[in-house]
Amino acid sequence: MIRLAPSLLAADFSSLGTEVSKAEQAGVELLHLDIMDGHFVPNITFGPDLVKVLRSKSKLLFDVHLMIAEPDRYIPAFARAGADFISVHVETCLHLHRTLQNIREQGVKAAVALNPATPLSTIEYVLSEVEMVLLMTVNPGFGGQQFIKAVLPKIAELRKIIDSKGLSVDIEVDGGINAETAPLAVQAGANILVAGSAIFGQPDVSLAAKTLRDSIAGI
Ligand code: DX5
Ligand code: ZN
Repeated sequence: MIRLAPSLLAADFSSLGTEVSKAEQAGVELLHLDIMDGHFVPNITFGPDLVKVLRSKSKLLFDVHLMIAEPDRYIPAFARAGADFISVHVETCLHLHRTLQNIREQGVKAAVALNPATPLSTIEYVLSEVEMVLLMTVNPGFGGQQFIKAVLPKIAELRKIIDSKGLSVDIEVDGGINAETAPLAVQAGANILVAGSAIFGQPDVSLAAKTLRDSIAGI
C-alpha cells in the first residue's frame, strides 16, 4: 500500500491547526514535518514546541524529517513532542548506527535520509536498524523544487537490496512529488510519498490528495 505524507512546509503557517485537520480529512496516513536549522540546510523552519502543539490536534503519524546538524542533541525533544518517525540525514551523522539506536531507544521508529548525491553504500550496514529510508528527490532546504530524475535508479536499487535481504523497510521519497513524478517513484519502488506543493500547496487539500492517489492507482 502506498502512503501519503503531506509536508507541512507548504501549508498556511498562519493557521497550522486548520491545515493539519484538512490533511486528516483528506485521509492521508502521515504528516511530514520538515525541521531545518539554517546550518545543514540554508532554511530555518520550526522546532519541537510546534510539533508538540500539533500532536494534541491530530492522530496522524508524525514523520519528523531532521535536516539539522548534530541531530542527537534534539532527538529526545522531538520524541517527547510526539514524533512517530524520526529521520536523520546520513550526511549529518558521524556515528550513524549510534544515532539510530538513540532514536529507537526513545520508542520512535528510526529512519535515515540521503541527499540525492549520497550513495546507498553509506547505509549498507544500518539497513536492519531502520524502519524507513528517505531518499531525497531534491536537494533539501526548500519546497517547490523540481524532482531529480537521476534518483530513480537509486530507488530501484534500494528496493532490490531491501527485498533481497527480506527486510520490511519503507522507502520514502521527498521533493518534487506530484501527479507526474509520483508514478515514476512508485514504479521504482517507493511506498511513502512526501508532497508539499502538490498537497498543502493546492487550494483543495482533499482533491489534491485524491489526484495524487489517482496518479498511482493500478501500479
Ligand atoms: C525539502 C523538504 C520537503 C519539502 C517538499 O527539503 O524535505 O519535505 O517540503 O516539498 P515539495 O513537495 O514542494 O517539493
Ligand atoms: Zn522533508
